[in-house]
Amino acid sequence: MGDVIVCTGRGGTGKSTFAALASRCLNSPKLLIDMDPDESLADMLGIDLEANGKKTISAMLYEFARERVGRSGYNVFSELLSRVLDDCLYRDGGFDFISLGTKFAVGCYCAPDAVLKDFMPTVVQDYEEVILDSPAGLEHFNRKVVVDIDDLFVILDPSEKSVKHIRRVLDIAKELRVNYHHLYLVGNYKFTEETEEYLRSSGETYLARIEYDPEVKEYNLKGKPLLELSENSPALQSVKEILAKAGLIHKGAV
Ligand SMILES: Nc1ncnc2c1ncn2[C@@H]1O[C@H](COP(=O)(O)OP(=O)(O)O)[C@@H](O)[C@H]1O
Ligand SMILES: [Mg+2]
Repeated sequence: MGDVIVCTGRGGTGKSTFAALASRCLNSPKLLIDMDPDESLADMLGIDLEANGKKTISAMLYEFARERVGRSGYNVFSELLSRVLDDCLYRDGGFDFISLGTKFAVGCYCAPDAVLKDFMPTVVQDYEEVILDSPAGLEHFNRKVVVDIDDLFVILDPSEKSVKHIRRVLDIAKELRVNYHHLYLVGNYKFTEETEEYLRSSGETYLARIEYDPEVKEYNLKGKPLLELSENSPALQSVKEILAKAGLIHKGAV
């Protein structure tokens, strides 16, 4: 298995945009995992799961639970694993994709989270890069869906809350024993050279900020896949530079 990359941060900072653009730059075979019940990453990647006969993990589980009523004596683990691979794993030439999905029933996300967590080691072993996009905030750390992270990218907006957020990420990871090899701070498109100073002086590894890109704004507004952005998109170039600084792509490729 290759690198496990997680994008985290507060709401609306640009995590999913970063994950989608990163998927364009990293080595294949690669797998993208959307841990946000909001399911926006699929749209950014131009994926229509339903049209491709695929389901989110939440939808698959709902169906599975209904079918199981009254049945017993069979191997739930192996059946669920084949369901994840057959029903939920979207395969494409460029990358594969899996989504936690929205749960249209009362209750927490413990069951879909547990499926993702339990099957992660099996599902991710064939990929060179695995990119996980997180929901807003810190709860996904508590859910411990991923506990061994290579590169944790914290996408920040220029606010006092963001600076506090960095501290909370460090504390919660330590407290819950979420391991990461590298933690990288990334300034979102709202940072200026001046406000970047906050991140440079934070004591953590600050990589760079993502340039404001009107096309990204427009594509997201219209639901156009970010994979169609032109190669010279300022946001894409920033993400490439950030990944190169993190040692995930060779400088020459930027
Ligand atoms: N580099 C950028 N330039 C302009 N707008 C951006 C950029 N990155 C993200 N955005 C905008 O910020 C908003 C939030 O982005 P998104 O990736 O959905 O954030 P998150 O996943 O953190 O909630 C979207 O409207 C998106 O178009
Ligand atoms: Mg998002």
